[in-house]
Amino acid sequence: MSFDRSVKIAPSILSADFADFGREIQAVEAQGADWIHVDVMDGHFVPNLTFGPPAVKAFRKHVKTVMDVHLMISPVDAYIDAYADAGADVLTAHVEAGPHSHRTLQAIRGAGMKAGIALNPGTPAEAVEHLLDLTDLVCVMTVNPGFGGQKFIDMTAKVRKLREMIGDRPVHIEIDGGVDPTTAPLVVEAGADVLVAGSAVFRGGSVENPAPYGENIRAIKASVAG
Ligand code: DX5
Ligand code: ZN
Repeated sequence: MSFDRSVKIAPSILSADFADFGREIQAVEAQGADWIHVDVMDGHFVPNLTFGPPAVKAFRKHVKTVMDVHLMISPVDAYIDAYADAGADVLTAHVEAGPHSHRTLQAIRGAGMKAGIALNPGTPAEAVEHLLDLTDLVCVMTVNPGFGGQKFIDMTAKVRKLREMIGDRPVHIEIDGGVDPTTAPLVVEAGADVLVAGSAVFRGGSVENPAPYGENIRAIKASVAG
């Protein structure tokens, strides 16, 4: 996976049909998804529960692009090898998930994955300042994590600050939560290049009728073009 600065859309399968993940992943990739975003929740770090390593390993067989796994779990370190085995390309942990993010990021890279660090809306950019050399992606949450379909919280100033702190390092800035054609231009202008979108991609479509997925992806891309 070489470093690509262009704007990428990462549909979150949290908004897909939970009984049909394999075909949903295939459908949304065929409709133009750049990455597949997989939200892992533990019912402890966030007030919702999704799936764990065996399910993520099953998703892998269907992902042809990049499998971007967002861990909303605490603790993290004991599960890193399981997500490497599951085939995650990018593994993102929250900086709020424990006191040793530096060790966590080293362990993620050590297990052969790209290492991401996520910040909740209440966490300042400075929380990751000393982690940037160990990081391939900074995920700025624009909702409080746990659920899809929430209202976008404007974190534009934080994104701008992070882009400045990152400088010329090959680090992606990913935005997660409430991204749609209205909010995407704000964060891309501030320096983001990976846009996670759940409800704004999956709305109106289905495995049987996937064309709306493509229309929705193209609408987000068009909103940030030029
Ligand atoms: C929220 C998740 C997001 C979520 C985004 O906790 O991390 O990835 O699925 O969903 P939308 O795009 O609907 O806000
Ligand atoms: Zn997410």
